[in-house]
Amino acid sequence: MGDRLKDKVAVITGGAVGIGEGAARRFVEEGASVVVSDLQAEAGEALVSELGAAARFIRTDVTREEDVAAAVDLAVSEFGRLDCMVNNAGIVGVIGPIADTPADAWDFTIAVLLKGVFLGMKHAARVMVPQESGSIISLASTAGVAGGLGSHGYTAAKHGVVGLTKSVASELGQKHIRVNAVAPGNIVTPMTADVVTSDPKNFEGTEEAIKFMSPLGIAGLPIDIANALLYLASDESRYVSGHTLVVDAGQTTGAVPSMFHMMDPGMIREAGKREL
Ligand code: NAI
Repeated sequence: MGDRLKDKVAVITGGAVGIGEGAARRFVEEGASVVVSDLQAEAGEALVSELGAAARFIRTDVTREEDVAAAVDLAVSEFGRLDCMVNNAGIVGVIGPIADTPADAWDFTIAVLLKGVFLGMKHAARVMVPQESGSIISLASTAGVAGGLGSHGYTAAKHGVVGLTKSVASELGQKHIRVNAVAPGNIVTPMTADVVTSDPKNFEGTEEAIKFMSPLGIAGLPIDIANALLYLASDESRYVSGHTLVVDAGQTTGAVPSMFHMMDPGMIREAGKREL
């Protein structure tokens, strides 16, 4: 237990499992009160009953404006204010070649991953602007800062999250509200487990399968992202806004370690002397 978020109130969308669950647990550990908002009522209710008096659950579909508004309003009615909005709810969305991508599946992907973030920012701002304080954090992805790391729809939506973060930061800074994003690499969650092993509960198999994808040779865990969210939610990041914090064990420095790093330095010196 710590006090890095003492007396702060947060809403975490998609907070029932995975990264959102990790954030809810970490925020409460550091003194925050948390509204867990998610489509999954059973998992969300179970989590808040474990977290106790500092947590509430509300069933939310982030594509519906009235649901997002209600999650924000619950934070205010139950805990008196809103200091941090974490726009985390997400799906894998539409996959496949661009020429075969159905337009309705594209629309749904953008609705969850980008419109959902817009609605979270909009309703957080409704409460934070009169307060003249707050921190809004949205989940982007490494697929939001590079191509080829996710499907077309996911990549477009996550780049949109990075852009919207900068745009809204430039407006809300006037009101002392910070707006940032976190871009995780491959994290062991139900979403990744489902993609990698076709079993959303197979965390061990997922960790084994994805750890080779990062230069550090380890798989990311929800706590790794929760700690980044904690920093951006707390006053320790008071001078940070409009930023996308990449948390990926160095993966976006190069998808695989460069072959030049594996070569014997003597070989490279010899190659440099060779006439072409
Ligand atoms: P997850 O699938 O394990 O959890 C996502 C949660 O969002 C679930 O509880 C789900 O019910 C909820 N959700 C889905 N659609 C919703 C909707 N319309 N309204 C409300 N809740 C909804 O996913 P994970 O891995 O924890 O991802 C969280 C966020 O982090 C997502 O935005 C994802 O795109 C992002 N991310 C995840 C990475 C990973 O490797 N797991 C990597 C990069 C980004």
